[in-house]
Amino acid sequence: MKQPLAFIHKWLGLVVGLQLLIWILTGIYFNWVDHRIAKGNELRQSSSHTVKPFPIDIIDLDEKHFIGVKRVELTHLAETPVYQLYYSLPAHNNQKQDVKTFHAETGLPFSLTQNTVKNIASNSYSAEAEISDIELMYPPHTDLAGEENPLWRVVVNDSAQTHIYVSPITGKVIAHVNNARRLHNIMFMLHFMDYAKTGGFNHTLITVFAVLNLIFVGSGVLWLIKKLPMMVHAVFSSGKKPIELLQNNGSSGVHALVPKGEVILHSLRNVNIHLPSICGGGGVCGSCKFQTPDTLPVTEADKAHCSPQELAHGIRLACQHSIDAISKISVP
Ligand code: FES
Repeated sequence: MKQPLAFIHKWLGLVVGLQLLIWILTGIYFNWVDHRIAKGNELRQSSSHTVKPFPIDIIDLDEKHFIGVKRVELTHLAETPVYQLYYSLPAHNNQKQDVKTFHAETGLPFSLTQNTVKNIASNSYSAEAEISDIELMYPPHTDLAGEENPLWRVVVNDSAQTHIYVSPITGKVIAHVNNARRLHNIMFMLHFMDYAKTGGFNHTLITVFAVLNLIFVGSGVLWLIKKLPMMVHAVFSSGKKPIELLQNNGSSGVHALVPKGEVILHSLRNVNIHLPSICGGGGVCGSCKFQTPDTLPVTEADKAHCSPQELAHGIRLACQHSIDAISKISVP
């Protein structure tokens, strides 16, 4: 690696630039689309809830259920009075919850039936369509990245391939997922680099990417500082161009300003580099060889005096090429 700074900066630039392009395109998408439609809620409707009083004959639960309990709620689940015992209290509802539900009048374990789930899902959907399947699904959920709890999946037989997800814990509709929402999920994944599908943007990859960005900026600044003197000279030296004189091993050397528009043989003389020239620049003697990592054409004189191996390694005759065509040179 001849110039590690340039190498790091260029390759990081490719990675950072690619993700930047993805951010721009997905950002345009998020600004452009109707969020209600994009989130799969075009046909979602809220159902009216009436606050029901609790019956007077609710019973006390057996004490054995309360071991390790963090919170107890007396609530309604699908209009049935229930106790809900929370054995964990995660910060967000999508995180894994450990909840047991008991009928508040009988004390027996309670859970939603398929029929109840079907009614909840149907009431949340404003169009006419058949329901073709109801199933209790366990994480990971393909449609809902980051959801760590089991969910009832109700499959609606419509053209948008809608799936309605109902929480068995709360009896509430968690989401309507259709083709528009699936596209939104892909855009979210690309925008937040959530390639592991965690459902958020607080993940390791984005931290690594932030560090890579810092290295990209830092290497760019250092590279600029290194090149600055040459650039300043170039600006204030009309008729001249900067050229890098490489060391014999090809590594970075010194920079010099040489006249533009001349053949390399003559231009280099202005910085006291005198290549051998028996024929005076006629392309006949073959003594004015130089090497460059830049891409140059091969002239007839080059072919006559340089072996195929030399030509492949960037060796040419200095009297045959313009200084304008190269930025780096190595001379014997
Ligand atoms: S000076 Fe003779 S070939 Fe270039």
